[in-house]
Amino acid sequence: MASVRLGQLTCHYEDRGRGPALLWIHAFPFDRRMWAPQLDVFSEGYRALAPDLRGFGESNLGRGFYTINDLADDMAALLEALGIESAVVGGLSMGGYVAFALVRGHPGRVRGLILADTRPEADTPEARERRRAMAEQVSVEGTHVLVEDLLPRLVSDDTRRQRPGVVATLEKMILAARPAAVIAALDAMAARPESRDLLPAITVPTCVIAGAQDVITPPDVAREMASAIPGARQYVLIPGAGHMSNLERPDLFNAAVREFLSGLP
Ligand code: MLT
Repeated sequence: MASVRLGQLTCHYEDRGRGPALLWIHAFPFDRRMWAPQLDVFSEGYRALAPDLRGFGESNLGRGFYTINDLADDMAALLEALGIESAVVGGLSMGGYVAFALVRGHPGRVRGLILADTRPEADTPEARERRRAMAEQVSVEGTHVLVEDLLPRLVSDDTRRQRPGVVATLEKMILAARPAAVIAALDAMAARPESRDLLPAITVPTCVIAGAQDVITPPDVAREMASAIPGARQYVLIPGAGHMSNLERPDLFNAAVREFLSGLP
């Protein structure tokens, strides 16, 4: 693992392989380790990067409050610091929110997009309220409440039954997340802007991936998003996977990504 100072942030990140850059942005409330199955495969032929976002993994939280745009600025600063002009950017769920913000704020940095189990809509008032309640609970009881409240919805029934190792990996990362980081991320997601208006302007090659059993960002949301993106080349449904499709069915996820990458100029 490497680290780089970006203003107040000491960003820790995995940096593996050589070749065109592939930047993987993690979901909530995880860290760079969720991309292990992708780093293993795509460090062959690519420079595969996976940072810990502010407060998660080894990265510090800094002043605490931040926005999704700040996270996108961090990603642009990371690429700048590493001398990388542009990257294929892959984001899952919250990582996708950051990818949208990167396209909006730093379009020149994005040469391709992989949008997995994510949505362009801003939060509804009800979703904001749920996040506020979750933040309150985490501040009182700690992140283990997410193991009970969130984890069961993150994976498919198939994964729960047949892939207990994946559930254990997710649980370990959730329990490692610091309450302050979780609360800051909940606030940032609740305040994130609407991105549906951005979709018609996304002309870079884009691959949209959805777990067929994702109940958090259901496949219909992903399909609609793909149809609104002019650059969308692939819409891939991953059977047997829920919200954490990259970890639940890494074989199918990686095959979709490989096919997408092989078609890039
Ligand atoms: C995630 O997986 O990053 C979260 O489910 C995103 C969200 O809560 O909106």
